Amino acid sequence: MSDTQMIRIFDTTLRDGEQSPGATLNLQEKIEIARKLEAMGVDVIEAGFPITSQGDFESVYAISQEVENSIVCGLSRCVPRDVSRAGEAIRKAKHGRVHVFCATSKIHRENKLNKAIDEIIKISVESVAQARQYTDDVEFSPEDGSRTELDVLVQITQAVIEAGATTINIPDTVGYAVPEEYGHIFAYVREKLPVIDEKGIYLSSHCHNDLGLAVANSLAAVQNGCRQIECTINGIGERAGNASLEELVMAMRTRKDYFAKYQTRIDAKKIYPLSRMVSNFTGLAVQRNKAIVGQNAFAHESGIHQDGMLKDRSTYEIMDPLDVGIPESKLVLGKHSGRHAFRDRLNQLGYQPDDDLLQRSFTAFKLLADKKKDVYDEDIEAILDEQIGKTRVLWELDRFQVTSSSGDTAMAMVAIKDSTGEHRMEAATGDGPIDAIYSAIQLATGVTVTLEDYSTRGVTSGKDAQGEVSVKIRHHDRTVRGRGLSTDVIEAAAKAYLAAINRIKVASDSAEKSDEEVVEQP
Ligand code: KIV
Ligand code: ZN
Repeated sequence: MSDTQMIRIFDTTLRDGEQSPGATLNLQEKIEIARKLEAMGVDVIEAGFPITSQGDFESVYAISQEVENSIVCGLSRCVPRDVSRAGEAIRKAKHGRVHVFCATSKIHRENKLNKAIDEIIKISVESVAQARQYTDDVEFSPEDGSRTELDVLVQITQAVIEAGATTINIPDTVGYAVPEEYGHIFAYVREKLPVIDEKGIYLSSHCHNDLGLAVANSLAAVQNGCRQIECTINGIGERAGNASLEELVMAMRTRKDYFAKYQTRIDAKKIYPLSRMVSNFTGLAVQRNKAIVGQNAFAHESGIHQDGMLKDRSTYEIMDPLDVGIPESKLVLGKHSGRHAFRDRLNQLGYQPDDDLLQRSFTAFKLLADKKKDVYDEDIEAILDEQIGKTRVLWELDRFQVTSSSGDTAMAMVAIKDSTGEHRMEAATGDGPIDAIYSAIQLATGVTVTLEDYSTRGVTSGKDAQGEVSVKIRHHDRTVRGRGLSTDVIEAAAKAYLAAINRIKVASDSAEKSDEEVVEQP
């Protein structure tokens, strides 16, 4: 009999990942990411925290109807109205899970909750029982579990299992644990509670990366009986982030000799396109030297390394970039390619656009192909991600003119078009061309905002490469991101700014978050 163990991959990009400072995803973007997570073979998709806002509720509800093969999960505090909101949100899921959490460490009990452990166990048990009215699949997390006294962990685990919890997740909420210690927690709880193995209860890890140990801690947990790992694409998440899905999966695959017993269902070839999509949608750039998906992850600069690589790749490369879906940049389409070829290419890249998205993307592709000689897969993915990310367009950039020279104030004129086709034109000066065009856009739209973050990256290389600009702007107490793509960096910057202003306007027009509740985020 084989003793291979399937490790469940629980992806929380759409919940803990979206809690990354500055990351906001709209509904369409969340659905698109969820589809790709499902196609990649993720076992559980944590789609949001339904009580926190109407938007979060709606995205968990929508993803529940969209996804068939993965379990769709909604997070909840141990508060009756949270649990019912999460339960309602996953009601339509083919496989739905409610994930309830309550802090258990002494620090959290005394300084945050001001509750004794008996009361914490009581509300946890009640919440698990309430969640079971919506689904048979209930996960419980003792928040700050890694800093909780071991016997308290055992006590609460036993109580919530009796109440109906089927997965127990022990989070290293503040990223404080070290691998041996974290692994020991799993061995200890399992040894003290034989019911875990008898009933087939899943133990789960959830590690934050404050000391850079999230992946190592998760793997230590696996070696001590943990059967589900919670993680995110690109390792995004609160503060320093969560354990990164791609690093975990590739560690287990690449070191099959060491992790011989453990397998995941992940199709690793889908890693890179999804990493790009998450980075594009959230506006969170992937650091160049990030393992697996960073721009330098497979680049060899030193002469000695290059020489070794030419003789035999395995001298300096432990993974094949193709295995994680990093494309060999190929010329795929040109300006004479038709809609049919374009759609085929999108399908090959994993997109199934509806007619409207296909039309908008094809128009953007044609415009690009007129400006740029070589169009690569990366260009096409960037176009698609840009079009998917668009909220209802209120204002569109029609044209602009910028003058800037050393020593002189920059000047910009911008013409925008609103949804009725009406044009507005404004001019402004600024401290450089971007500042000038941003001032002109504010005048033209009548929306005053503060720029909080601005970043740019090249989508492909070469002098006609597309540049992508990502901005974060603040309007009163709301911050949003916008993205723009063009072979002209000033145009990309203007489009990104306008995209963010569109989002602000759409959100305030529909008072999207009017019933939003302020909820303590774990
Ligand atoms: O970090 C944490 O403790 C969490 C829990 C909700 C699992 O995100
Ligand atoms: Zn977390």
